[in-house]
Amino acid sequence: MTDESEQHPPGIHTPRLFLRRVCQDDAQDVFAIRSKPDVAKYCGFIPEKDVDESERWLAHNLARPDYYTFAIELQSEERNKRHRDAALPIVVGLVGIIRSPNVGYILNPGVQGLGYATEALVAFLGNYWAYSAITDDQHASRNCLSAEIDADNRASRKVLEKCGFTLWELRKHDYYSPMLGWTDTEEWRLPRPEQDSSS
Ligand SMILES: CC(C)(COP(=O)(O)OP(=O)(O)OC[C@H]1O[C@@H](n2cnc3c(N)ncnc32)[C@H](O)[C@@H]1OP(=O)(O)O)[C@@H](O)C(=O)NCCC(=O)NCCS
Repeated sequence: MTDESEQHPPGIHTPRLFLRRVCQDDAQDVFAIRSKPDVAKYCGFIPEKDVDESERWLAHNLARPDYYTFAIELQSEERNKRHRDAALPIVVGLVGIIRSPNVGYILNPGVQGLGYATEALVAFLGNYWAYSAITDDQHASRNCLSAEIDADNRASRKVLEKCGFTLWELRKHDYYSPMLGWTDTEEWRLPRPEQDSSS
């Protein structure tokens, strides 16, 4: 697990996960995710062929000020449960702002279907609204986040619904996916929660 004291903002603990800002050293684990066709097909990229590609992708994103993304690690107890059958990388997923105001998330196929994406996104959103309220950069004025997903991506739709997003619009045949051809896009939105005036 990464040293939390080096993180800004600090890492986020959930019942089963630990989230901290993704960094260049995560390239190998990111490659284990972004090399999988089942991950790439709904995210609009071609599966990466070697770790150099993941390194370049990370370097490009980390240089952008609106890239606010967290690596998802399993807490040790959870990791022990999952580690029995197969060796898992430390970083099992990514969640965050891909390009403001769009959120995104990807998980290693070895840990999908366990509710981790929902748990990670809920935690990320709480952090994001708090973080963006105190910064003076482009995040501060954001009062709404969005997510654009392939209309056939039912797992992703479920995650958004469970996190409180609502469907904003369906755009037919608006996106050419390198793996799927012309696809329909659903845009989902989530407004900033109202401040509790009593606190
Ligand atoms: C989308 C993704 C992050 C979801 O991760 P996850 O941890 O499996 O998600 P969760 O377990 O939190 O929730 C998934 C929900 O979708 C459901 N689901 C999964 N596959 C499904 C399918 N093919 N059809 C319908 N529902 C499906 C699950 O049953 C679960 O619902 P439930 O909680 O009511 O049982 C993961 O599948 C992934 O990384 N996919 C590839 C990358 C991707 O598509 N990213 C999103 C692009 S924006």
